[in-house]
Amino acid sequence: MAVTPKPKLDAPKVRADFPIFEQTFHGKPLAYLDSANSAQKPQQVIDAMSTFYETSYANVHRAVYELAERATAALEGAREKVRAFVNAPAAREIIFLRNATEGLNLVAYAWGLSNLGPGDIVLVTELEHHSNFVPWQFIARRTGAEFRMLPLDDHGELRLDLLDETVGDGRLKVVATGLVSNSLGTVNPIERLVAYAHERGAIMVCDAAQAAPHRTVDVQALGCDFLAVSGHKMCGPSGIGFLWGRGEILEAMDPFLLGGHMIRRVSVDGTTWGELPHKFEAGTSPLAEAVGLGAAVDYLTEVGLDAIEAHEHELVGYALERLADVPGIELYGPPAERRAGIVSFNLEGIHPHDVGQVLGLDAVAIRGGHHCCQPLMQKLGVVATNRASFYLYTLPEEIDRLAESLHKVVKVFA
Ligand SMILES: Cc1ncc(COP(=O)(O)O)c(C=O)c1O
Repeated sequence: MAVTPKPKLDAPKVRADFPIFEQTFHGKPLAYLDSANSAQKPQQVIDAMSTFYETSYANVHRAVYELAERATAALEGAREKVRAFVNAPAAREIIFLRNATEGLNLVAYAWGLSNLGPGDIVLVTELEHHSNFVPWQFIARRTGAEFRMLPLDDHGELRLDLLDETVGDGRLKVVATGLVSNSLGTVNPIERLVAYAHERGAIMVCDAAQAAPHRTVDVQALGCDFLAVSGHKMCGPSGIGFLWGRGEILEAMDPFLLGGHMIRRVSVDGTTWGELPHKFEAGTSPLAEAVGLGAAVDYLTEVGLDAIEAHEHELVGYALERLADVPGIELYGPPAERRAGIVSFNLEGIHPHDVGQVLGLDAVAIRGGHHCCQPLMQKLGVVATNRASFYLYTLPEEIDRLAESLHKVVKVFA
């Protein structure tokens, strides 16, 4: 039987779609190694948004004139693209929000306040981004539920062997975890956590902010109950993200934000809620941003998620090799096989902000900080790390430039 070769990504060709790379910084081309923070935008996304403003802009769902109908069709078209992107069963289960953080807060508030109480357990992990940690901690405190954290091993991988011990005999109601760690790039064994959550009668909330831009995410195959994504990390605009939720759970929930658009009927005696997804989309939606997100979905689909994942996998293996011989470097996280395109590290005795500043002069852009993961930093025994992160437009020579700049940093601070 013929074997179909894996699709290969042509990074220089992809890169030509991103106008940001046409400029230089300090006389050098930009090595943008900060895509886990936010991704750059292809011309196709920028054009889709400009065209929408130039030809189709009006508020949606509120008027019957042709322009408003066109705008509504554009918004709902984007929703359908997003539905297909994560293989959700229905477009009404896709809720447009500002970002992944808002999606996770929606679940914590709107589901948590009505379903959690004393004796219940909310389980997160030591790897979580604050967006999937702090809302749960806060709502657990508000409702009297217990908030627990599954620890990591020394490679930054989840200690699944400690699940029973961590949960104990309490009533597990929520397991909330990311698919991919934004700090270490760890790819979590999510299917096993979904199975564990459901065996114990809990809901499974997935933070896919670092997964959906880089690999195929299929909510039906994952079997989770909620999944949150940010548009700006997947080549879409800032100001839009989405939450997918299982229809029957969303229907049973109270709304999160209240006001215009999300109602069915309002009177002084009381208010009833609109249908999904409107019940969770109070006020005017991010319209051009939704169109831009739809264009980003088209773009990533055209390049191919499998090709993007394979490209980043090669890059991360190469980066781990190239960085290993920088004097005084400590690399954090799992081996390349179980890691997405993210590398966190420290240089002995040099603060990440100093590293980042010297690299910046070489036009190498990385992030230094706690990456919104202070519990993880506490586990690593550091206040901050440097983080280089890769995407579909990243070239191996940018990793060479990172390694060369780091050698320079070590010399500067020797
Ligand atoms: C894993 C993870 N979850 C959630 C977020 C929050 O994303 P946003 O700031 O777009 O809401 C981020 C952003 O870095 C992230 O990396």
